[in-house]
Amino acid sequence: MKNIAIFASGSGSNAQNIIQHFNGGNIAQVKHIICSNPKAYVLERAAALGVPATVMGKGDLTSDTPYALMQLLEADAIDYIILAGYLQKIPAALTAAYAGRIINIHPALLPKFGGKGMYGIHVHRAVVAAGEKLSGITIHLVDAIYDNGKILFQAQCPLTPLDTPEDVAAKVQALEQQHYPAVIEQYIKGNVSR
Ligand code: GAR
Repeated sequence: MKNIAIFASGSGSNAQNIIQHFNGGNIAQVKHIICSNPKAYVLERAAALGVPATVMGKGDLTSDTPYALMQLLEADAIDYIILAGYLQKIPAALTAAYAGRIINIHPALLPKFGGKGMYGIHVHRAVVAAGEKLSGITIHLVDAIYDNGKILFQAQCPLTPLDTPEDVAAKVQALEQQHYPAVIEQYIKGNVSR
């Protein structure tokens, strides 16, 4: 059984889906939610699902030496870190300690529409403004550079000229719900090349 920590900053629809996917199985369990925003709805979802959650201040999360965070991950013997709408950059000490064991989902087809400031609805607005005919999801490993790590999986959805950013968000969220837990599971099982 592998131990997962999910890092999230927002609504937590992906966090909830991942927790429920692994609940009751013998592959992995979500041991902890780390949240950078004390008002995030993900904290309510975590409480309802009985998963411990810790809010960490920006200092803890962005420091070069994130001792409090590292201690928490060690205490829960965390094997994998899953980013699910997490808005802080991961400290270099963590990407080094967990190389190949941090996975992120990005709501667009990287390498397009990635990088600093590209999150949530901002991504979908940029996709619509560019007149893209396709968007989708990218599930990738996390290294020290934003949205740069090895791509593990992508799925596409067609767009129409009438789609608003909110329409694109709904299409992308459907893909996230369909694929993210399954790709994490396959990666943990060693079925996805690293
Ligand atoms: C998701 O769409 C995720 O792909 C995106 O934030 C949303 C979080 O939703 N992540 C990024 O934009 C990262 N750059 P959720 O809190 O409901 O899971």
